[in-house]
Amino acid sequence: MDMSTLKESLPEDYDRLKALKAFEETKAGVKGIVDSGIQKVPRIFIRPPDELVQELNYQQSNLQVPVIDLSGIGADDQRKKIISEVKNASKEWGFFQVTNHGIPLNVLDGMLDGIRKFHEQDAEVKKEFNSRDRMQKVKFGSNVDLYRSRAANWRDSLTISLMTSDRIEPDELPEICRDSTMEYSNRVKILGKTLFELLSEALGLSPDHLNNMECSKVHQFSCHYYPACPEPQLTLGTSKHSDPGFLTVLLQSQISGLQVLYQDNWVNIEPIPGGLVVNIGDLLQLVSNGRFISSKHRVIANSIGPRISVAYFFSGPIGEAKTYGPIKELISEENPTKYRDLLLSEYMGRFMKTGLDDENWGINYYKL
Ligand code: OGA
Ligand code: NI
Repeated sequence: MDMSTLKESLPEDYDRLKALKAFEETKAGVKGIVDSGIQKVPRIFIRPPDELVQELNYQQSNLQVPVIDLSGIGADDQRKKIISEVKNASKEWGFFQVTNHGIPLNVLDGMLDGIRKFHEQDAEVKKEFNSRDRMQKVKFGSNVDLYRSRAANWRDSLTISLMTSDRIEPDELPEICRDSTMEYSNRVKILGKTLFELLSEALGLSPDHLNNMECSKVHQFSCHYYPACPEPQLTLGTSKHSDPGFLTVLLQSQISGLQVLYQDNWVNIEPIPGGLVVNIGDLLQLVSNGRFISSKHRVIANSIGPRISVAYFFSGPIGEAKTYGPIKELISEENPTKYRDLLLSEYMGRFMKTGLDDENWGINYYKL
């Protein structure tokens, strides 16, 4: 490991590729940099000047994404109200928070705690999970798009991918967060099915419509660790992006940082105890023919930390030759088709080749 290469970020001798490789080779992620005692953000993480300047155009906003209480989901009149709230939030924001969603607080806290412990354990143990192999189910790393993005993000991630098989055996998971992760993933899968039922009804379809389309079939989760940052204004925890799948359920610790772009303003999504953040992904925007929106969001860096989050992504069976397009029932003379069909495997392949912050990528490519 060669930390001196990281420190060497003077303009005249800056070789970005070399610095990225040096960072990658440490296999210790951003936490490794922080632990080494660095007081300045290394150059590979510094956002390009045009982006930093653009920041001045944004307004601060005191708005809040809708919070939807899911208790009473089984009672007819309550359910109607919940569906209408889900519908409005998905159209207007593409984001909402849910409370009383059925996952007990101790399971949420246990998950966050397990992930914090994973990232804070001995670096040598974490290294064993370090890999860029797409087929590997459990991986630890920093910045999946390290060589493709304009600036690296101030975060590390443990990624658990259930893309190739629909279940994970406990012994495939890191021991330190094994039980908590199994417990949480079993629960969030069930919540996901429920959310797709609500979303189907919010689109005026039968409750099982989206689940039958296999929108909740494939799961991946990214367990992020955002260390405290010495110069938070220069970098980002997560670059501005939208999520490529159908739906994301996000568990976040009680430190703010997540923001959604709403009518050209960045709106903070403040953690609420026991709450979960839900957001519409690009594929749901496409199949809903644009009725639901997949909003851009990001995580700002923070001088306090760590912030922990677990993003649980629901997508379709990406390995199969499956196509998705706007749902026929949602198309009419007044609502003509807005998108062409896409082949899921091709779409995901394109996603993997771009940086998270690539403005040219996304569902607009499939717009008619
Ligand atoms: C993501 C994401 C937000 C967060 O992983 O796609 O947007 O709070 N994460 O970590
Ligand atoms: Ni996201």
